[in-house]
Amino acid sequence: MPVNPISGKQTVAVKHFLQFKDFTRDEFEYLFERTRIIKQKFKAYEQYWPLIDRTLVMIFEKASTRTRLSFEAGMQQLGGSAIYLNTRDSQLGRGEPVEDAGQVISRMSDLVMIRTFDQSIIERFAANSRVPVINGLTKEYHPCQILADIYTFIEQCGPIQGKTVAWIGDSNNVCNTWLQAAEILDFNVHVSTPPGYEVEPERAGLFGADHYEEFADPMEAARGAHLVTTDVWTSMGFEAENEERKKDFADWQVDEEMMRIAAPDALFMHCLPAHRGEEVAAAVMDGPQSVVWGEAENRLHAQKALMEYLLLGRVDK
Ligand code: CP
Ligand code: NVA
Repeated sequence: MPVNPISGKQTVAVKHFLQFKDFTRDEFEYLFERTRIIKQKFKAYEQYWPLIDRTLVMIFEKASTRTRLSFEAGMQQLGGSAIYLNTRDSQLGRGEPVEDAGQVISRMSDLVMIRTFDQSIIERFAANSRVPVINGLTKEYHPCQILADIYTFIEQCGPIQGKTVAWIGDSNNVCNTWLQAAEILDFNVHVSTPPGYEVEPERAGLFGADHYEEFADPMEAARGAHLVTTDVWTSMGFEAENEERKKDFADWQVDEEMMRIAAPDALFMHCLPAHRGEEVAAAVMDGPQSVVWGEAENRLHAQKALMEYLLLGRVDK
């Protein structure tokens, strides 16, 4: 195993998780299995500290509850420590080049997680980083969310291969990541967005159009789906469009009628935070098909598996 020339610690070659397609299907299968094992250890109060002495730096340029908490708690539970930086009170907010920040921060830590605006920012940071970089959400992608979501689906329903996921609403970072995941893990996404908000395949980073279909009518997208999922109408960074979006998205709400047209026992997921009465009816969000709380919890377990993998490679314990 190579040794980090700065810290003297043993490392595997630097690997980043900047978008879903950075990993292969085989790697995801490994991660889902590790998530199951790591979750089991957590539930059994088993002490498991493979990342003792390792430091995660978390850089936030946008608000977060789940991402911060799951990474910080997850790193501590694996025996390491986590440091929170935000752009408001670090030099990043005063114009220090992201390349310079990558050089410096990666000399003082073992792993970096970034939540920022443009994907190009995280790509530039990673190009200058000596340690793995994880995308904690950009305008384009949210790979950690879909890692946890697919684990949640598998936990509840078994393999996702060949299944249909209905995406109702904005073709945003979470939608783009579902589309990438469908290509890698071989399932289908039925997407319904209002006119003017359609999927942009290049921005979504897709290889082709084989794994998704677009529907003008959201009910048609949901018909027979094994999972119905959505997200806020206005993502962070688009707040100026909020009023216009409220009008444009008014017919793109996941409600009970939509859940009835999906497959029997279809799941409902939402990355959260949710706006009941906008993209999802309260009766669905709080109803029997909703798995949103387990989905949020699985961010913790899936990201622990991800951090372990990025720092130690494949382990067998
Ligand atoms: N789903 C998600 O990433 O939540 P936070 O914005 O709270 O981190
Ligand atoms: N699409 C949302 C997800 C928040 C977790 C956003 O980017 O704001």
